[in-house]
Amino acid sequence: MSARLQQELLEHLGRFERSQEHLLRHWGQLTEPQRERLARQVLELQPPLLMQLFRGEDDAPDWTQLANLAEPPSAVRLAGTSATARQEARQRGEQLLRDGRLGMVLVAGGQGTRLGFPYPKGMFPIGPVSGRSLFQVLIEHLRAVSRRYDTRVPLYVMTSFATHQETVAFLEKHDRFGLAADDLIVFCQGTMPALDAATGDLLLAEPDSLALSPDGHGGMLPAFVGAGGLRHAQDRGIQQLFYGQIDNPLLQVCDPELIGFHDLANSEMTTQVVRKREPMERVGNVVSIGGSVRIIEYSDLPEAAARRTDEAGELLLWAGNIAVHVFSRAFLERVAADPQSLPFHRARKKVPHLDAQGRPVDPTQPNGLKFERFIFDLLPQARNALVVEADASSAFAPVKNADSEPCDSPRTAKEAMLRLHARWLVEADIDVPPDLAVEISPFLALNAAELRQRLRIGGNLNGPTYLEP
Ligand code: UD1
Repeated sequence: MSARLQQELLEHLGRFERSQEHLLRHWGQLTEPQRERLARQVLELQPPLLMQLFRGEDDAPDWTQLANLAEPPSAVRLAGTSATARQEARQRGEQLLRDGRLGMVLVAGGQGTRLGFPYPKGMFPIGPVSGRSLFQVLIEHLRAVSRRYDTRVPLYVMTSFATHQETVAFLEKHDRFGLAADDLIVFCQGTMPALDAATGDLLLAEPDSLALSPDGHGGMLPAFVGAGGLRHAQDRGIQQLFYGQIDNPLLQVCDPELIGFHDLANSEMTTQVVRKREPMERVGNVVSIGGSVRIIEYSDLPEAAARRTDEAGELLLWAGNIAVHVFSRAFLERVAADPQSLPFHRARKKVPHLDAQGRPVDPTQPNGLKFERFIFDLLPQARNALVVEADASSAFAPVKNADSEPCDSPRTAKEAMLRLHARWLVEADIDVPPDLAVEISPFLALNAAELRQRLRIGGNLNGPTYLEP
């Protein structure tokens, strides 16, 4: 059995231009289960694709040229959109929610390396007073929206091999933070192997495993289909999918206004953006090139292009990607049917691996190529792609870095949550001592207007407070 399997693996590896037989170097010492693991990984390799990706340096877009062509996208801006248009959008979004037409996708497959937290990022305690985890903050927000519109919004959470088991255990331990079992599907994204950047050799991470990494949030598309998520959404009559990232506690979950603008424009994909704080901010740049909406990553945008200004002295490429999108289900069905719909991006990274003698190598310089797909590369393929601006202070508090960094850390995100809730209290005329840390449960209020209706006290608060119904 094992000899036949080994032969099958050698044949598969023979489809590469370069010999990759080193992957079976430790075969003789592996146990049966280890051989099965390695065999599964090897048989999943797609030799033509990997060879093309290795050679593909020339296929990478010329970002400098694209950046020169980039213009600000046409967008529903905060200033300049009438109250009537907003109200119309809000009402349409609310109707879709009431009719049960919404689902939500939350991507949570990243490993949180920059944050320095050795668990899935969703388990990170972010509530500034309550200590609630990112998962709890976002799931309770979703439940509060569902309750407000007397509806159910199924949640599809994407994990990766690095986060899947712990995420499932965490969500189960906390009874899915109150979501019904049929309203939560947790599905795991796929992987891509890393290649030696100099030779194109596949790398072994362990004697029985290739060096693999998550295939990027664009991996959501095949994984969502493969895990039956799209079918579940079809069966539930879902028409629109709201998409967000786990690392933003201020995510405006299923915002009716955003959904309404998307639906009224008959858009297949809408993206919510914020005005960039500074030219080199580490967010993707939402731009228009030749009439289609695209995102140029901060790492790809040349500084000169990032610094361009308009006649008023404002940043020309102002629209920062906060990775909040609305997809029509029909669009996802169409693009999921085409395996080429998302290109791979290649990145040089440090990839730990075993050397020819089987000794572990922990590189100090980038030595490998990793490949990821980005979900936002669907934008140019969407009919009537739409860009809608949100106010960063109420929609975006990214948790990326450790607290030792000056921005995008748990500390800055907690401060942003407290600032927003303090503003609601002021707008709702609720008298609380200045500088008092107050966090507001989404079940109590999702905005200042709701807070005003539901809460009439405040004066007796004198220490950090979690306000809940
Ligand atoms: C990302 C966006 C950037 C945007 C910013 C907003 C990309 C390439 N860039 O930057 O344009 O301005 O977010 O916060 O996306 N994830 C997975 N699986 C993966 C990779 C990522 O689920 O294989 C999830 C992570 O859990 C995380 C999110 O996607 O929630 C973003 O990934 P991350 O690598 O942190 O992207 P950024 O570089 O911060």
